[in-house]
Amino acid sequence: MNPASEGHVARRVRTVETLLILVGIISVSGGTVEGLAPSYRALAATVTGIVSLGFLVEYLARLWIAPEIPHLLSKTAIRSRIRWALSPEGIIDLLAVMPALAAASGGARLGAESASVFVLLWVLKLATHAPGVGLIARVFHNERSALGAAAALFIIVLFSSATIAHWLEGAEQPEHFGSIPAALWWAAVTLTTTGYGDVVPHTALGRMLGGIVMLCGISVLALLAGILATGFAEEVRRREFVRIWDLVARVPFFSEVGAIAIADIVGRLRSRSFPAGATVIRKGAAGESMYFLVSGEVAVHLGARIKSLRDGDFFGEMALLDRKPRSADVTTVTPCTILELNVADFYQLAGQQPTLIAAIETEAKRRRATEAE
Ligand code: CMP
Repeated sequence: MNPASEGHVARRVRTVETLLILVGIISVSGGTVEGLAPSYRALAATVTGIVSLGFLVEYLARLWIAPEIPHLLSKTAIRSRIRWALSPEGIIDLLAVMPALAAASGGARLGAESASVFVLLWVLKLATHAPGVGLIARVFHNERSALGAAAALFIIVLFSSATIAHWLEGAEQPEHFGSIPAALWWAAVTLTTTGYGDVVPHTALGRMLGGIVMLCGISVLALLAGILATGFAEEVRRREFVRIWDLVARVPFFSEVGAIAIADIVGRLRSRSFPAGATVIRKGAAGESMYFLVSGEVAVHLGARIKSLRDGDFFGEMALLDRKPRSADVTTVTPCTILELNVADFYQLAGQQPTLIAAIETEAKRRRATEAE
């Protein structure tokens, strides 16, 4: 699931779960240190027991709600649960509760000791549940052909440098460069610019080769970093686009606009969340943006009168249309999700989507008329 689309409760559960995993990993890792005070060991064993019990409760809860998982909705409850239990996530979650099951069958000490075996599984559990891991996996998937090309380049340079190093250094240092597989260690350490220094070329030509391999290594790593950075930026932009598109679909004002115009608008909108009682617009301030209310309620303070605006309404358009300071305070009545369009994009849209801006203008005129009454 896209973390941005998670509800508050889901976000809290995720945070508690991540904390539980981290506490478990720290306590089990700490328990493996030699010479610790018995009191610490006892504490670590208790913490490990509590954490794995927490995982057991979570496993049962996840198993119970498996029929609610969107892609399992078409299956019967039992089948959904079996499908989830046999999925990689279900298997990892089940293995993560093993210390608790071991503790239940063999006493608390057995649970604490066996937990060290499962610390790896807890790290895996953290990887499957941590937000952002899905994003990383997606980026690697999207960029697989570019990453494959960079990996091929890496392998070509690795093997050719190991082969040349074997020719140049083989006679001088047979233990390190006597064969191509032996020379591969030096090539890998040099190409990745790790440079342990345990194996170094002795001949002048060997050192020259070392310099070239280092430069190639920096270039290949820079290439990889560039591919991943671009992939991340692209994926984040794409996800943000889909999220805003989803929000735009909930604003009826946009429903009359065609898909191409919406795509144009979506790229310019930024979503913002406000708690209840926040001031979104202050009377007299310069107009920097206008807002579309996706969910929640805001109050427009018109002197003694208060006008309520709800889901789907927009506000903050007058200052942009009239190029004047804000005409009223606008505050949130309930927590609100709002789409913001900044002034530069507003004027650009006015040129590209005149019907959209005309509709905003008509509503602004109506509002001015009601104010004048
Ligand atoms: P702006 O003047 O930029 O900032 C205050 C906003 O309150 C204004 O734009 C309108 O969007 C909104 N507003 C002002 N008067 C009314 C009204 N009578 N009814 C609804 N909204 C209003």
